[in-house]
Amino acid sequence: MTTLTPVLTRYWDDPQSWTIDTYRRHDGYQALRKALRMEPDQVIQTVKDAGLRGRGGAGFPTGMKWSFIPQGPGPDGTVKPHYLVVNADESEPGTCKDIPLMLATPHALIEGVIIAAYAIRAATAFIYVRGEVVPVLRRLQAAVAQAYEAGYLGRDILGSGFDLELIVHAGAGAYICGEETALLDSLEGRRGQPRLRPPFPAVAGLYACPTVVNNVESIASVPPIILNGTGWFRSMGSEKSPGFTLYSLSGHVARPGQYEAPLGITLRELLGYAGGVRAGHRVKFWTPGGSSTPLFTEEHLDVPLDYEGVMGAGSMLGTKALQIFDETTCVVRAVLRWTEFYAHESCGKCTPCREGTYWLVQLLRRVEEGRGTESDLDKLLDISDSINGKSFCALGDGAASPILSSLKHFREEYIDHLRSGGCPFDPARSTAWA
Ligand code: NAI
Ligand code: SF4
Repeated sequence: MTTLTPVLTRYWDDPQSWTIDTYRRHDGYQALRKALRMEPDQVIQTVKDAGLRGRGGAGFPTGMKWSFIPQGPGPDGTVKPHYLVVNADESEPGTCKDIPLMLATPHALIEGVIIAAYAIRAATAFIYVRGEVVPVLRRLQAAVAQAYEAGYLGRDILGSGFDLELIVHAGAGAYICGEETALLDSLEGRRGQPRLRPPFPAVAGLYACPTVVNNVESIASVPPIILNGTGWFRSMGSEKSPGFTLYSLSGHVARPGQYEAPLGITLRELLGYAGGVRAGHRVKFWTPGGSSTPLFTEEHLDVPLDYEGVMGAGSMLGTKALQIFDETTCVVRAVLRWTEFYAHESCGKCTPCREGTYWLVQLLRRVEEGRGTESDLDKLLDISDSINGKSFCALGDGAASPILSSLKHFREEYIDHLRSGGCPFDPARSTAWA
């Protein structure tokens, strides 16, 4: 049985966990002191050696991303400023790890920001947070003010000669602004829409300058790595997916919440810690990494939840948002809800996603209400296929994922809706109950 490894969450139940004093009592800002005694490249190398992978969904190696920042003058002979941008725009359905982290321990994120900015030689950093989550915004702003007062931000940090300004920026609540290049456009004051990549932000990001965009959890994982070393980090998880991470369990679970565990733990083990599926019920389907990742079923309870394990089983680890649905849930209705979300949040820049998500909603609604025919299922597959891999950004692929995977695992349930003239889970609407 894999044991839980509370690192980032270890004192979340302290009612004062968010204050700078509590953070300092738990070794807070010690990693910063250590990092400032290292050369910036040594810090990058440490994060590379640890094997930390981005916790925002894609799992790209964090140290490698930092090392892409060009040093010295560019081809035109000028030296451009570097920026660090923290993507705190968490909004993938089911994902609820960064917001609790920022509420419980904002200084863990701030310390990570200072270390990362030092490593990539950035003098300005931004935390781009969802503006409508006002308590998080206020808590971050208060914590940043405390960090300035304590000499961790501003000029000559802890006498090291390193200067850093940190700005908390409130986004306006568009899911697409979690896509890193749309986020940068939004930060620059424009309408948030994805940019063509390459160039990646590491080469041309904010104001066309080299920029690292990292997720909250990735950055907050840096101080413990600096403090405890790469061997400690690598003693958890697997060779290709080392370390600990936050799994968010939601849905039909006895004790939903954030569970911090080594990468590679299984859902069966996590359910053991979370009190299992609600009494008297069993898992029907679940998402390994938010609604953009192909659905899993009861058959997948023993899949190791690391990047390779989940991919090998046909899905993606994504944000590690494990949404659990028991046998009382209509999969067609769940997929319809997610698709409505993607259609609403589609930024409209590319045709496959803008038009495709609209038509997916129309078809799914018809099937869910039992008004369609079996040929609608083929149309759903066709449209999903026209979106998947053919859209401008990952939102399109994410929209197609639940449809393709639910039709693979639960085609019969779609057909049941057509046969029953409505949702078989809803006695009020299905003629099968008449
Ligand atoms: P990606 O794989 O294209 O890129 C990942 C990161 O690596 C980016 O920062 C990118 O700039 C960098 N990168 C990749 N190749 C590079 C190269 N050759 N040179 C320099 N940098 C490079 O993934 P993407 O589109 O950024 O993110 C998709 C993921 O986001 C999905 O897997 C999904 O799980 C997740 N997601 C998370 C959400 C959340 O709320 N946290 C919301 C929606 C999606
Ligand atoms: Fe916009 Fe969707 Fe195209 Fe992404 S895939 S650029 S969200 S229309």
